[in-house]
Amino acid sequence: MVNHATGQLFFPNIKPGRFLPPEAHLPQLQRALLDWFAAHKRPLPWRASYTPYEVWISEIMLQQTRMGRGVEYFKRWMKRFPDMRSLASASEEEVLRLWEGLGYYSRARHILSAARLVMKEHKGIFPSDPAQMRALPGIGPYTAGAVASIAFGEKLPCIDANVERVISRIFDIDTPVKQEPAASKIRELALALVPEGKAREHNQAMMELGALVCGKKPRCERCPAAMFCVSRNMGIAGKRPVPGKKAAITPVVMATGVLRHNGRIFLQQRLTGGVWGNLWEFPGGRVENNEHPAGAAVREFMEETGFAVTPVRKYGIIRHGYTTYRIAMHCFELRLSELPCPQDSFPRPVRLTSASSWRWADPEAIAALPMPAPHRRLADTVFRMNRALR
Ligand code: ADE
Repeated sequence: MVNHATGQLFFPNIKPGRFLPPEAHLPQLQRALLDWFAAHKRPLPWRASYTPYEVWISEIMLQQTRMGRGVEYFKRWMKRFPDMRSLASASEEEVLRLWEGLGYYSRARHILSAARLVMKEHKGIFPSDPAQMRALPGIGPYTAGAVASIAFGEKLPCIDANVERVISRIFDIDTPVKQEPAASKIRELALALVPEGKAREHNQAMMELGALVCGKKPRCERCPAAMFCVSRNMGIAGKRPVPGKKAAITPVVMATGVLRHNGRIFLQQRLTGGVWGNLWEFPGGRVENNEHPAGAAVREFMEETGFAVTPVRKYGIIRHGYTTYRIAMHCFELRLSELPCPQDSFPRPVRLTSASSWRWADPEAIAALPMPAPHRRLADTVFRMNRALR
């Protein structure tokens, strides 16, 4: 409960420093979480009206994305696609461009396919039945639980990394949370914790608590669940959750070329499929063992387009992390090795082996095309250097 005069939390009938085992005090723990959420929730844009469309988009965006960035993208998205109909009639290119920088582009492709299905099969109304939600592209157990509970008030848990951390601390789960037996135990506890009729507030309270108080470094002195928390009572909150095996990091060295000709730049659109499917890029690829990065850019251009090119200068190295990969992309300006005949001012590639289409683009066209984040950074570098040289 909150003392509105001081803004501090207090719990009538509970002495400070007392420990109440959580399994035996679920109603009190639920009350403490709900009161804390009512007092401390952030004014996030989808919390104004909780429409299913907004909750769905926010939940997909927030996966693998920090809150500040998620809110920024969410506001931009809602300006352009305020409802299911406007989204369903958009082009994939525009959707990917709006998503650019969030990564994991299959999320954006799935959102578009799901919106078109909702228009076709549900008269444009997001289904309230979790089983029907799960039948839509890109909606797994987490998203179905989140939308069903937050938008429709269904008594379902939603379990993300924040919730796993909170539960593992309160109930002292002493094995890695992503693996069995912990994963099942957490699912069971997360469901048991959802109070009847309060799923919307409760699930968000758990996530919010994990984000604001029960983070990597727990701030138990501010926690409404402190007196129910087994690991805190034992002085081991910092040792929960038990980490699982860390995935190995793979370094990858790439070479990429910006081929300039007559004031334009050569771009290709990647084939459908894969993490960057359908996005536009500068051709390039892996640098092989003992190969010089500039030589790799020349070789990749020949393999992917048939253009014979010559390095003009090095722009630098762009670094990009993706899941377990750490990419170092060596970037070069290139020119055609031989000038094409004058009537052929923008020559066609001889072949395309890694792309479905190509274009000689001017800066405005490049700004409108969806690109992977490191390629966008390269495009920005090229334009910045160009302006500086002018
Ligand atoms: N993370 C993902 N969804 C969230 C929500 N609805 N509130 C707070 N944090 C979240």
